[in-house]
Amino acid sequence: MQIRQSLETEKEQLRKLHLETFGEEEGDSVSTLTLQLLDDPTAQPLLSLIAKQNNQILGHILFTKVSIEGNHAQGGFILAPLAVSQECQRSGIGKKLIQTGLDKLKEQGAEFVLVLGDPAYYSLSGFHTKHQIKPPYELSYPEAWMAQELKPGFLANISGTVRCADALNEREYW
Ligand SMILES: CC(C)(COP(=O)(O)OP(=O)(O)OC[C@H]1O[C@@H](n2cnc3c(N)ncnc32)[C@H](O)[C@@H]1OP(=O)(O)O)[C@@H](O)C(=O)NCCC(=O)NCCS
Repeated sequence: MQIRQSLETEKEQLRKLHLETFGEEEGDSVSTLTLQLLDDPTAQPLLSLIAKQNNQILGHILFTKVSIEGNHAQGGFILAPLAVSQECQRSGIGKKLIQTGLDKLKEQGAEFVLVLGDPAYYSLSGFHTKHQIKPPYELSYPEAWMAQELKPGFLANISGTVRCADALNEREYW
């Protein structure tokens, strides 16, 4: 299996992957969000990685730029969305996509990464709630709002409300 940056020509495959993986309830909105983020100038720089085998995309992860209001930190990202096709789940692909993404962002000088997701899953990849960054909207499950630093000590010195890419800054995604 190969993990690499997604190509412009693979957008339709990414849309299908998110549509199918997130199912009836969320598939439409997550696949639309994915394409919007890939085209959103306020999401840049972004990191879009796919897991591919036998010419088939098995998984996709997207990290897009964030800033913190009133703060000069420039190296923040949010992980959203992540999908692994149903037939391939629980075989380590999601974990590998997260780790490869974090390694690449770290190499590029990123300072921290945020995620809104299942704590049982994302805590396995180093995300936690011990941070002072506020989400843009009030959350029903505050424990799902997690972060991890890529520069040691960074999270201890940063607080404020996050500003995400325009496409992600819509109430429905929070
Ligand atoms: C959630 C998802 C991305 C996980 O991907 P995956 O490739 O199946 O997960 P992995 O095989 O890498 O699992 C890594 C670890 O997490 C555990 N795990 C997998 N899914 C889990 C879940 N839903 N809850 C808790 N733990 C989970 C695995 O047991 C494994 O543990 P281990 O490292 O101790 O063996 C995938 O199931 C998916 O696409 N689901 C539908 C879309 C979705 O919910 N995306 C996330 C939105 S926040």
